[in-house]
Amino acid sequence: MAGVADRAYRLMCKRFGAAYTVSEMVSAKGICYSDRKTAELCTVTDGERPMAVQLFGSEPDFMAEAVKIVLDFRPDIIDINMGCPVPKVIGTGAGSALMKDIRLAAEITDAAVRAAGDVPVTVKIRSGWSAETVNAPEMARALEAAGAAAVAVHGRTRDQFYSGQADISVIRDVNQAVSIPVIGNGDVTDAASCLKMYSETGCDLVMVGRGSYGAPFVFEEIEAALTGRDYVPPTVEQRMSIMLGHIRLMLENSSKCEELAMHEARKLAAWYMNGYYGSAKFRGRCYQLSSYSEAEELAKEFIELQNSRIDKNNPKNS
Ligand SMILES: Cc1cc2nc3c(=O)[nH]c(=O)nc-3n(C[C@H](O)[C@H](O)[C@H](O)COP(=O)(O)O)c2cc1C
Repeated sequence: MAGVADRAYRLMCKRFGAAYTVSEMVSAKGICYSDRKTAELCTVTDGERPMAVQLFGSEPDFMAEAVKIVLDFRPDIIDINMGCPVPKVIGTGAGSALMKDIRLAAEITDAAVRAAGDVPVTVKIRSGWSAETVNAPEMARALEAAGAAAVAVHGRTRDQFYSGQADISVIRDVNQAVSIPVIGNGDVTDAASCLKMYSETGCDLVMVGRGSYGAPFVFEEIEAALTGRDYVPPTVEQRMSIMLGHIRLMLENSSKCEELAMHEARKLAAWYMNGYYGSAKFRGRCYQLSSYSEAEELAKEFIELQNSRIDKNNPKNS
């Protein structure tokens, strides 16, 4: 996820059991013009593997060229983004704009597959452009014919952006339409929604996006459900310790000074506190963090507040 799933985020998800990670999307054209951010976005470290580097673009030649450049970073998979709904991306004909041009989508995939050699190329799509033009099964068939090794399907149309509910019946339809693996995506936030995605669509893998915000342990919960183990969610103390570990990892992996890197950690901290008593007030304070020691202090106060609530409600502790 662009602006979210950086190296520290991916490493956290892997530590908690994610089977596979994907880079933030990278512009194929940007890479070809040696965008200075390329190395930052495309580098794959061992702790993140298996990992895909995800490219977006609308021109087969640039896509092929970008794939060749990205291969130097030794990704396990190259993924092509054909699902991004943001105007800046679809304005260039890339992302979910390709849901409207299946032939071009297949040409881009074919060019990437030829350039990638032994490295599998997968594609991420949406259910369609709009409710009237749901075409993910047809699109997936064309991508399979063009050599895609798997397809990930987000069960929303471009018109929906991220609102409303994902329609997972489209993912089932895609699964019936192709013989390559299908990755189901949309609104999976816990073990129950993940099991539902598997059972109702027959998909081969499930992808979690926003459900991992402030909750990399969602993968541990899912793994426990899939292997029949009991799962105990982290306590507030454990949650804050995971948050601080995540922030440390982010600082270690950032080329920025602590203060600037902490700007990026602010939303992370707010996510980890979300859903708890007083989290709205703490969110404002998260957005003022400018050092790691402040984050430690805030985490301590947050734990104290939650524990004081438990004490109040529990006569045994009063
Ligand atoms: C902030 C944000 C950034 C995203 N960036 C990407 C991206 O770079 N590549 C991609 O394939 N999907 C991206 N997505 C879409 C997610 O991967 C996912 O398809 C979508 O959020 C639905 O899944 P979810 O309900 O589990 O979040 C992004 C979503 C959000 C909210």
